[in-house]
Amino acid sequence: MFHVASHAHASKPALYAEIADLARGLLAGERDLIANAANFSALLFHSLPDLNWAGFYFFDGTELVVGPFQGKPACIRIALGRGVCGTAAQTRQTQLVADVHAFDGHIACDAASNSEIVVPLVRADGALLGVWDVDSPLAGRFDDEDRAGMEALCALFMQAVDG
Ligand code: SME
Repeated sequence: MFHVASHAHASKPALYAEIADLARGLLAGERDLIANAANFSALLFHSLPDLNWAGFYFFDGTELVVGPFQGKPACIRIALGRGVCGTAAQTRQTQLVADVHAFDGHIACDAASNSEIVVPLVRADGALLGVWDVDSPLAGRFDDEDRAGMEALCALFMQAVDG
């Protein structure tokens, strides 16, 4: 049986450190992209407080296509450069959006979302795998500690599937 992190931590870095330990165990020895993406989504969605969506969009060579996730059904295809996910994919830079309603071109999949963080996933050879997208019903839910924690978790994920 696998566990999720308890929310009772002294600090965000401590919570992310525990999730990273759990992610290492969950992904160890498995390279299947869908299996790892599904379990990674479940681990983070249930370990981090105040989320309404957490999941993957994979790049199919033309656009982003929704992959394994936790949350309500979501938009299926997103063009590069569109919305927060498309911007992260195109710029290859993490997008930290305190108020999605103020983000030009934000795509509202779940009306409950008010803030969002999206991390680009790039393979060792430089190819774009896709993006990791997390939404919250709280405004300003994500800060630089979340950015650091989420980027570290995505690096573990990429190591498992691409390492
Ligand atoms: N809000 C995202 C779309 C994806 S969903 O939130 C699941 C965006 O603007 O890219």
